[in-house]
Amino acid sequence: MSKIITGKGQKLYLKAKKIIPGGTQLLSKRPEMFLPDLWPAYYSKAKGCKIRDLDDREYTDVSYMGIGANVLGYAHDEVDAAAKKAIENGGMCTLNSPEEVYLAEELLRLHPWAGGVRYAKAGGEAMALAARIARAYTGKDIILFCGYHGWHDWYLSANLSDKNALNDQHIAGLAPLGVPSGLAGTNLPFHYNNFEEFHALTEMHRGKIAAIIMEPIRNDLPENDFLQKIRQTASMAGIVLVFDEITSGFRLCAGGSHKVLGVEPDIAVFAKGLTNGYPLAAIIGRGDVMEASQDTFISSTFYTERIALAATLKNVELYQKYRVWEKQTEYGRMVQEGWKEKAEQYGLKIETGGILPLGHFTMKGKEDPLVYKTFFTQEMLKRGYIASTSFYASYSHSPEIINDYIENTGAVFKEIASINANGHTVESNLEGTVCHSGFGRLI
Ligand SMILES: Cc1ncc(COP(=O)(O)O)c(C=O)c1O
Repeated sequence: MSKIITGKGQKLYLKAKKIIPGGTQLLSKRPEMFLPDLWPAYYSKAKGCKIRDLDDREYTDVSYMGIGANVLGYAHDEVDAAAKKAIENGGMCTLNSPEEVYLAEELLRLHPWAGGVRYAKAGGEAMALAARIARAYTGKDIILFCGYHGWHDWYLSANLSDKNALNDQHIAGLAPLGVPSGLAGTNLPFHYNNFEEFHALTEMHRGKIAAIIMEPIRNDLPENDFLQKIRQTASMAGIVLVFDEITSGFRLCAGGSHKVLGVEPDIAVFAKGLTNGYPLAAIIGRGDVMEASQDTFISSTFYTERIALAATLKNVELYQKYRVWEKQTEYGRMVQEGWKEKAEQYGLKIETGGILPLGHFTMKGKEDPLVYKTFFTQEMLKRGYIASTSFYASYSHSPEIINDYIENTGAVFKEIASINANGHTVESNLEGTVCHSGFGRLI
């Protein structure tokens, strides 16, 4: 197959790196995370699961679909019509948007255990609100956390006492520069499904813990009543249990995955899947816990803007109307099975993981998994796909799209097998450098 032809996108990114430190606003959108120097980087148009780059080349997105935000698909007509109506009627005003109340009512209807709702604009920011509310409610400082929850001081402070604390929770290379050293010891990690480790922390910091902050599910299913035991510990000790549903919410059902898992938190936080791509996050919680947000100052002009609220309200309605979680699960299953089948067919070893709507694979061979990942992305790009080793299912995918994707995946797996069989390395077949896996300065 011919080589990748670079164009306007690659050129614009070179300019971006000179004037935007780090190149982009989101690590997961850095071209280096996909295909250094060769990634199209920018889009001119996105619709459904189709993307056009700045050179008007069309691709099918079988990767992150707006980094998990577009559960219905890009530029969804009905969601965008709600946003356009909000624009026409004034996206901003001195009075409040009624959609704030309508959306709150709907979120509370979907989560009857909750009694109050606040909004923010981004996921990590909403997690900072949740941490603040939990600390305000309990009057305590310490947080026990598991997984990734954003970039804010409360979270990065985990790396103050142990510079590697976040390595296996999120990624390596997160220096807590700029985070006040006084926060050391206030955010302590535990690992999913390791109740003993969690329990030891609760014993060690008995009486000082404000919150337990975790995703209810992401890669692994909870084992041995892990979530139930955490719930019980939190209830007995008066600790606020916060479920981060930013990525897990609106994947397995309409609302939080905790509804399927059968454990209710005290606070749940949504963004991404809640909005189909509009900038809004919601923090919902037990009535008494959320009341604490009246005693601590949380207030922002743009939290009130109408466009994202109106679009989100429509997305939540359509997500239920189209029973989107059923499609996410069906397509996710097809993809995970397809990856395994094609790997087996060509004698390659892969490990798959993730809940069905958010699957991923890692190729295990003689070379670094990142080499295989880069090669896969490179070859799939030539075949018209925005692909990585993850697949986030969306309503805009279809069985036909998935079947074609799996066929093309098989063709790339076959290329890898034949490179190996001929005694060559996959790395020597890369047209650029190996993709990055963690956080670091860009040169
Ligand atoms: C579980 C979880 N928490 C928090 C965040 C941060 O959200 P945002 O990127 O909107 O700030 C993410 C984003 O990937 C996430 O997956």
